[in-house]
Amino acid sequence: MEESNSSSSRGVFTATVHSREQIGERFYRITLEFTDEGAKVFSNCQPGQFSQLDLTSAALPIAAVIPEELVDSSGRRLLLRRPFSFSSVTPKGDKTVVEILYCTAGPASLRMTTLNTGDSVSVVGPLGRGFSVPEGKKLALLVVGGMGAGPLEHMADMLTEKEPETSAIAFAGAKTADALPFERRLDEISQQVGFWLPEFARYGIESRVATDDGSAGFHGLVTDCFKQWLGENNPPSESTIIYSCGPEVMLKRVAEIAAGRNIDCQISMERLMGCGIGLCQSCAVECKGHGDTDYKLCCKDGPVFDSKEVVFG
Ligand SMILES: Cc1cc2nc3c(=O)[nH]c(=O)nc-3n(C[C@H](O)[C@H](O)[C@H](O)COP(=O)(O)OP(=O)(O)OC[C@H]3O[C@@H](n4cnc5c(N)ncnc54)[C@H](O)[C@@H]3O)c2cc1C
Ligand code: FES
Repeated sequence: MEESNSSSSRGVFTATVHSREQIGERFYRITLEFTDEGAKVFSNCQPGQFSQLDLTSAALPIAAVIPEELVDSSGRRLLLRRPFSFSSVTPKGDKTVVEILYCTAGPASLRMTTLNTGDSVSVVGPLGRGFSVPEGKKLALLVVGGMGAGPLEHMADMLTEKEPETSAIAFAGAKTADALPFERRLDEISQQVGFWLPEFARYGIESRVATDDGSAGFHGLVTDCFKQWLGENNPPSESTIIYSCGPEVMLKRVAEIAAGRNIDCQISMERLMGCGIGLCQSCAVECKGHGDTDYKLCCKDGPVFDSKEVVFG
């Protein structure tokens, strides 16, 4: 059943769960299938855009499998939809299949772990502004922090499909190897040679892995790994662009590194979201205005911003 009221670029649609897979202790990938107008609208979804999912009708998992730190919050009533971006968008004939990479963080994402093939989910989207590729960019550097992987996997797909002249390298970091939301092959991860995380390798993109504790890849922050790579390779600033998604503290550092080298940089910001469509004002992002501070809305003006315009806390 479809609830969209027009053939506009966004709407409320019902998707059907196509598959769901657990890829780590707290990480999952779920694919949703859209038909009819939903298939058309979501086939145009840009990397970095997001959707609001209604998970109220999904059941909570049994108490025994709920992580201890989520037990108290798991029973909270779900009043609001939750924002999720896609890690891939694949038109298949008259259908469009989208994938969400997610981790269990509270009542909504816990409920997503009980969805099964054939279940229905109400989805509002696609929402917000995604990543874009300005003219003349020949090298894209994707800097991922933890759960920021999803939109940048989608970006990797888009670059391969639509920007064959632009090559890319991914840098992915997390606190520990277990916190990397990938189907990883730790024994293969090396800091000496470029490693190919399967999630980026399928688009022909080499990746570097960093962990804060050194349990996989580069020992240290992904931003240090990234900075070291920039120092060694010195890519031309005018034809290079950085795309980043992850914790704000990491985005701040990526923005500083980009500014220091005069490289264009787009970052995907996160805020708690109420409506997701610019009405409730709950998702303000402090930006540089003309002489003064300006506030923009993460859901409408973002979530992707030019790193030069954001004022980090
Ligand atoms: C544009 C956008 C895209 C997103 N894409 C994904 C995705 O692809 N995969 C994924 O797993 N998650 C994604 N998220 C985050 C996801 O929406 C939240 O984790 C969501 O709140 C989960 O709902 P919940 O009920 O499980 O947990 P909640 O109980 O809602 O949240 C759990 C905890 O996380 C905090 N939190 C929730 N949302 C945010 C936020 N936006 N910023 C900072 N802290 C927050 C809450 O305060 C709470 O402490 C995205 C968020 C945004 C804004
Ligand atoms: S979430 Fe309501 S204005 Fe952004």
